[in-house]
Amino acid sequence: MRLVVVSNRVTIPDRYEKATAGGLAVALREALEKYGGLWFGWSGAVGEDTRQVQRGNVTYAVTDLTEAERQSYYLGFSNRALWPIMHYRLGLTEFQRSDYMGYLGVNRRFARALAGLIQPDDVIWIHDYHLIPLAAELRRRGVTNRIGYFHHIPWPSADVLGALPFSATLVRTLAAYDLIGMQTELDVRNLIGGLVDLCGARQEGRRVRLGARETLMQAFPIGIDVEAFRRLAAASVRRAVTPLRATRESLGERKLVIGVDRLDYSKGIVQRLEAFGQFLLSHPEQRGNVSLLQIAPPSRSDVPEYAELDRMSDEVAGRLNAQLGEFDWTPIRVVKKAYSRTALAGFYRRAQVGLVTPMRDGMNLVAKEYVAAQDPADPGVLVLSRFAGAAQQMGEALIVNPYDTHEVAEAIRTALAMPKSERIRRFEQLYHVIETTDIDWWRRRYLEALTGVPLSTGAVE
Ligand code: UDP
Ligand code: G6P
Repeated sequence: MRLVVVSNRVTIPDRYEKATAGGLAVALREALEKYGGLWFGWSGAVGEDTRQVQRGNVTYAVTDLTEAERQSYYLGFSNRALWPIMHYRLGLTEFQRSDYMGYLGVNRRFARALAGLIQPDDVIWIHDYHLIPLAAELRRRGVTNRIGYFHHIPWPSADVLGALPFSATLVRTLAAYDLIGMQTELDVRNLIGGLVDLCGARQEGRRVRLGARETLMQAFPIGIDVEAFRRLAAASVRRAVTPLRATRESLGERKLVIGVDRLDYSKGIVQRLEAFGQFLLSHPEQRGNVSLLQIAPPSRSDVPEYAELDRMSDEVAGRLNAQLGEFDWTPIRVVKKAYSRTALAGFYRRAQVGLVTPMRDGMNLVAKEYVAAQDPADPGVLVLSRFAGAAQQMGEALIVNPYDTHEVAEAIRTALAMPKSERIRRFEQLYHVIETTDIDWWRRRYLEALTGVPLSTGAVE
């Protein structure tokens, strides 16, 4: 068996190693190196080039997008329509027919290029919302291999998704897959509901029949390489990674609350800053004792909703710092750049509180990384949004509703005041969960399910 992975963003090791900020890229690189095979997708560049690069046992086959394709397929339909609606944000969803046409066009072009590279014993694993119709396009070109899809982000209920024009047509193309993986049981339920309500599919347990094809749906919560992260974090203490050493010098004995997210409205960054401000307002005795470090690498900056978030986060942090800061203490630091995993591991380890409060998130790997990086003898506390997929597994975190500023503010206080014995108890349970459902477990379970699923030979409609 050869593994063929397809994702919008392909990260060829070396060149992109440090800049990578997406959870998908981090997880897939680790997965593919174990099997060997082919990774196909967008080069990340605008142009007309297509090339193959060999790295060890993995071939990276990448193609540029034209500027028109980047605008319509990537920025337009994927990130102004699908991303917000999948995160339950109808008010931010911007649909343009021409974007949808561009999205279908790139999926068709990818299928044409990929069909020529497929070998008979290949197992094809397609990732994320940019590529939903890819399997249907491959089937139309005669590809009969097993094809699986994994959806890394949330899947909303049919009445939310149904507001997106062409959603029924798009959802229908999912029947071309043999296996569809989601992050949580809720996502699976919503997906099956969508297929039934929007497309008239028939449900038999976890199998969905649409026309002549049958597809298995299952939850596979994604994990991280816990052991690697633990080691990075432990080493950071000894080696005092540069940004960490600087943090130590500038923070002194002060406590640290940390947030790490792409600058994305789904992450609840502005709401989190407000909650930290609220915490300092309600607990004036804490002022000067603790700072919030928010690491927020810019993401999709050409999308207007992201540019607006960039502006808003500066505004809110500036206002709170002016209102609450002292000459020798800055309550909030927002750093808009990406850090290496080594540096992040050090920051996580130094922070007494990990503040992970997305308004909605598929999984959220940062929540798991924060736990993996803690000192088992003196661990920090994870504050986690109930709307992150991770909350389904990580019930021993302090679970909060990110829409409730007061609740988040009180959770920060509770976390900072938590006795060591309780911190250790919670940490041990959380660590056990992430260790037993790590990235290897995820990949193994998914590929076992994909290679074991009975092949559905019916044609796509
Ligand atoms: N990340 C990184 N450098 C940064 C910020 C984030 O390497 O400066 C990584 C982080 O360690 C995590 C991933 O980006 O592995 C983010 O994954 P998550 O699931 O939390 O969110 P996503 O960005 O996929 O929505
Ligand atoms: C999330 C998505 C990924 C995406 C990543 C970074 O993790 O699930 O598919 O690659 O964000 O976003 P970007 O638009 O920069 O690829």
